[in-house]
Amino acid sequence: MHSDEDLLKNAQAVLDMNDRGNYTQPAHGLYPHQWLWDSCFIAIGMRHLDVGRAQKELTSLLRGQWHNGMLPNIIFREDAVYGPDRNAWQSWLSPYSPDKVATTGITQPPMLAEAVLQVGKKLDWPERRNWYDKMLPHLVDYHEWLYKDRDPHKEGLVLQIHPWETGLDNTPPWMQELNEHLLPIWVRFIRRFKLDSIIGLFRRDARSVPMDERFSVVESLAMFDVQLRLKRKSHDIDKILDHALFAIEDLNFNCILIRANSCLKEMSKAVKYELPKNLLDSMTGTEEALEQLWEPYSGQYYSRDFVTHKLLKTTSIATLLPLYAGSISKERAGKLVKLLENRGVFAANYPVPSVPLSSPSFNPKAYWQGPTWVNTNWLIIKGLENYGYNDEARQLARNTIKLVEKSSFNEYFDPINGKPYGAENFSWTASLSIDLLKSYSQD
Ligand code: GLC
Repeated sequence: MHSDEDLLKNAQAVLDMNDRGNYTQPAHGLYPHQWLWDSCFIAIGMRHLDVGRAQKELTSLLRGQWHNGMLPNIIFREDAVYGPDRNAWQSWLSPYSPDKVATTGITQPPMLAEAVLQVGKKLDWPERRNWYDKMLPHLVDYHEWLYKDRDPHKEGLVLQIHPWETGLDNTPPWMQELNEHLLPIWVRFIRRFKLDSIIGLFRRDARSVPMDERFSVVESLAMFDVQLRLKRKSHDIDKILDHALFAIEDLNFNCILIRANSCLKEMSKAVKYELPKNLLDSMTGTEEALEQLWEPYSGQYYSRDFVTHKLLKTTSIATLLPLYAGSISKERAGKLVKLLENRGVFAANYPVPSVPLSSPSFNPKAYWQGPTWVNTNWLIIKGLENYGYNDEARQLARNTIKLVEKSSFNEYFDPINGKPYGAENFSWTASLSIDLLKSYSQD
């Protein structure tokens, strides 16, 4: 690929290729279903080409909304052969699950408010008002559910119960928790006797992507065990948290929630929609509680164990996400920008790596343990803009565009040599490239 114009055309072709009628699949083969934050990132780019399709992308997420307000991370496509499928989750065990579709019983980072807001900006006033009026009640239900079910002690931070809820599946802070404390005996047995290579032969994802670019067998079995437990508890949060061993107040998730709350406020102000008082109080609580995740000696924020309140002091891409939240002080934001610019930490040749270059967990191929992803770059670019680092934002946007021009629309990239890894023709890589091109053209 050569110019911005070619890139735009090719990105559009990827989105067309992945079009499944009322939603866009993340990629052919590996990801046939509808994923929550994928559809949000897809709509953010799609709004520049076809705002109607961007709206449809988001409204089709609502068919999966649970009666208690939850938005699931996956809505299963009925005829898909591959995928973390419906029977593995059995959402129908919960009385709150939707009537017509099968979903998982967990959510993903709450990007929907941002996507609805950005799509709305492409509409003229009367349509924009209708759009916000239509989406706001669903968003309010979702955010109220987050606080009710996921902040049971009213601490301000919402908790996550499965690594997939962070969107950063095998990110080191979560994997360390799993490995150190929660690996079930049968998975320990497999690890101890090195049976993982045999089990790996049966992995379905290996048909689409080389195994060393995915998460390990032990990681995937450990995640599967968490999933089995949620299903055994019929996706009932009270039962899940009773004897809960595994619940984390995730930094990435809570930062995205803070930004989503601001988007909700902006939209409700525009259409004079009154947000419930309790919800507004909870929103303020989250901004305050985020500061409890700050650790002064390393000058960073971390995720926290929900039960012990111990900070999980492992640096990852989430470390930079408080910039996107937009609620932290300028001084703390400055410290995060320094990490971004530090060659030993996040300043790779093809930034931003999902784990610091100097980290013992860094592996340039291994999913969320090293590679550069376009969606987290997009969030960091927005975060830099929040704090007036406009030159830095432009530079990261142009570096991201250059990387995709060099290596195509893959799921993730090697931060050292820019090689493409993971699924090919990945939808959010295409859509967010469009959004970045529209905001940061070459001149
Ligand atoms: C992987 C990613 C997750 C994404 C999903 C579908 O599980 O870790 O963030 O939503 O794939 O693309």
